[in-house]
Amino acid sequence: MSFIKLVNKRFSVRKYKNTPVEREKILRCLEAARLAPSACNSQPWHFIVVDKPKETALLSEKTTLPLTKMNQFSKGAPVIVALVAEKPNLSAQLGGMIKKKPYYLMDIGIAAEHFCLQAAEEGLGTCMLGWFNEKAVKEYLGVPVKRSIPLLITLGYSEKEIPPSKVRAGLEDIYSFGKYS
Ligand SMILES: Cc1cc2nc3c(=O)[nH]c(=O)nc-3n(C[C@H](O)[C@H](O)[C@H](O)COP(=O)(O)O)c2cc1C
Repeated sequence: MSFIKLVNKRFSVRKYKNTPVEREKILRCLEAARLAPSACNSQPWHFIVVDKPKETALLSEKTTLPLTKMNQFSKGAPVIVALVAEKPNLSAQLGGMIKKKPYYLMDIGIAAEHFCLQAAEEGLGTCMLGWFNEKAVKEYLGVPVKRSIPLLITLGYSEKEIPPSKVRAGLEDIYSFGKYS
């Protein structure tokens, strides 16, 4: 598959089949994430894979917003992956402080997309979740207080096979050559 085809194939899946996900496929997604670039090659991440039905059910309770439908779909996801932000190496910490840029968050975002694109390649669907009860998720997963979980990723076989058309700004609206315009 060409890269652009793969990019078009990935979409946020919010309805999953009940089918369990093979661990070797999960491992290939993790391998793709492992190979992601990061500031000063800091690799400030740890992935917690929750793929046992009882455990995903408990975890997904912490990803939904009470009284709304927000992220309720995560209850049907056979796998949830938590991306824990590990302490960056000294150069990345210093660089981030001097330049006032949260490099570690960029790193986590890139690794997350590598994971999701490999999942698409494997015929799997994903959805990144940025909106969840982080404190409750950390407690449930035994993540130390000083660490954060910027993102979760739901993973599984999508009910929908054909990707919906992308809702995006037009290409001509997002770039300029030479100077800002
Ligand atoms: C950092 C980040 C956080 C997101 N958080 C959520 C979320 O909490 N719930 C959700 O349903 N989708 C979430 N999404 C998915 C976006 O809504 C989705 O990527 C966007 O609408 C584009 O649609 P597509 O992924 O199908 O191309 C998140 C995506 C990103 C990149």
